Amino acid sequence: MKNEDFRRAGHQFVDWIADYFENVEKYPVLSRLEPGDVKKLLPPVPPTRGEGMEAIFRDFESVIMPGITHWQHPGWFAYFPANNSPASVLGEFLTAGLGAQGMVWQTSPAAAELEEVVLDWLRQMIGLPAGFSGVIQDTASTATLCALLSAREKATGFESNESGLKPPLTVYASEEVHSSAEKGVKIAGFGRKNFRRLPTDGRFALIPEKLEEALIRDKDAGLVPACVMATVGTTSSGAVDPLRAIGEICRKHGVWFHVDAAWAGTAALLPEKRWILDGAELADSLVFNPHKWMVTNFDCSAYFVRDPGTLIRTFEIHPEYLKTGVDAKVKNYRDWGIQLGRRFRALKLWFVIRSYGVEGLQAMVREHIRLAGLVKDWVEADARFELLAPVDLGLVCFRLNDGRDEAGLDELNRRFLERINADATIFLTHTTLRGKYTVRFVVGQRTTEERHVRAAWDVVSTAAGEVLKS
Ligand SMILES: Cc1ncc(COP(=O)(O)O)c(C=O)c1O
Repeated sequence: MKNEDFRRAGHQFVDWIADYFENVEKYPVLSRLEPGDVKKLLPPVPPTRGEGMEAIFRDFESVIMPGITHWQHPGWFAYFPANNSPASVLGEFLTAGLGAQGMVWQTSPAAAELEEVVLDWLRQMIGLPAGFSGVIQDTASTATLCALLSAREKATGFESNESGLKPPLTVYASEEVHSSAEKGVKIAGFGRKNFRRLPTDGRFALIPEKLEEALIRDKDAGLVPACVMATVGTTSSGAVDPLRAIGEICRKHGVWFHVDAAWAGTAALLPEKRWILDGAELADSLVFNPHKWMVTNFDCSAYFVRDPGTLIRTFEIHPEYLKTGVDAKVKNYRDWGIQLGRRFRALKLWFVIRSYGVEGLQAMVREHIRLAGLVKDWVEADARFELLAPVDLGLVCFRLNDGRDEAGLDELNRRFLERINADATIFLTHTTLRGKYTVRFVVGQRTTEERHVRAAWDVVSTAAGEVLKS
């Protein structure tokens, strides 16, 4: 492709994305395709000769676009958001254009130093005390795996790295912890049987006394507790584990304390919501995802550690070909995580924070939480519905309840959710809470305004009437 062709196509693509931002709400939020529909339209073998961008782009519009589920749609109330924003896309565009790979400081000093500074901005923005150092990981799953690996090494005096895992090490979290914790436990070699999933209280938060009991029981049995994971904003209900009490127990028993605030961490931008991180200063590590609620397009996960030395000792490796003359003076982020090669993700984060300013981001998050509060009020005001969890942030958990038995309610609510999503004007997803089929309504998409939430509630309310009649 010649540079002038790139220039022409590039301008067209920026126009296309700007139009997409303007018109995203006109698309069906959820792709309507059946499994295999996209593959059917793609040739099974690669083209022998290069093709023009016009032809490629035509296929993007006709083959790819129908198979896109529109996460940036204002009717996105599913899972958690994975927001982008114009500033973030522009930053990502430059990252791709530069094509810099930031494995060590020398391979792009600006990438390393911007990452250090921007993560310290983020640390301040969510109220973490000075002394925590940040690094960008691709996802919270990876950050949690890094925490588990660091915890493993700390618990074994770095012997696992040398000789492999020996004594049964144990890991603790609430039964509401995200599935990435269990995945990390498997990958890090702890073994699923050594993962204790502890009961939660009426707000779905971990009960500190149960944690301490479990730690003592395991220690008495000769096991080695290595890591406790607390969640701020659980995926199913948005529950906030009591960090201070958990942190104090971890200190007392000498166990690594990891905090997963993947989604809810963004809410700590708001002074009135900072309580969610009360006690986070006791953590050894904490992750939150600007790629969820903080308008920085996927992927960008902020991982903070109190002692970078442990993280680095867990991961460092020094082949001759990676040594540089400045290693003693700089941060080489290749040793702060699993991968060697690193994308320049800090650029889009820098663009986002500068473009919105802290106040701009706060205003968006505050508005989302207000809108979720409206949904909660509507649920509570309508006798057909039952609220199933407290609403502290942007997630409302509810179901239809007309008094039939639990199996019947599960079946009713399954049909209810199918009906809500049938027209693809909005998209909601489900979970189970205490075994009950639960509809989740998450407000957090950048483009969502009050009118969208009101329109969504009309869809929900109409669907409720229809399934209750049928
Ligand atoms: C609480 C929590 N932790 C971790 C994750 C995993 O996030 P990621 O996709 O960044 O690995 C999620 C995803 O929704 C989550 O809700």
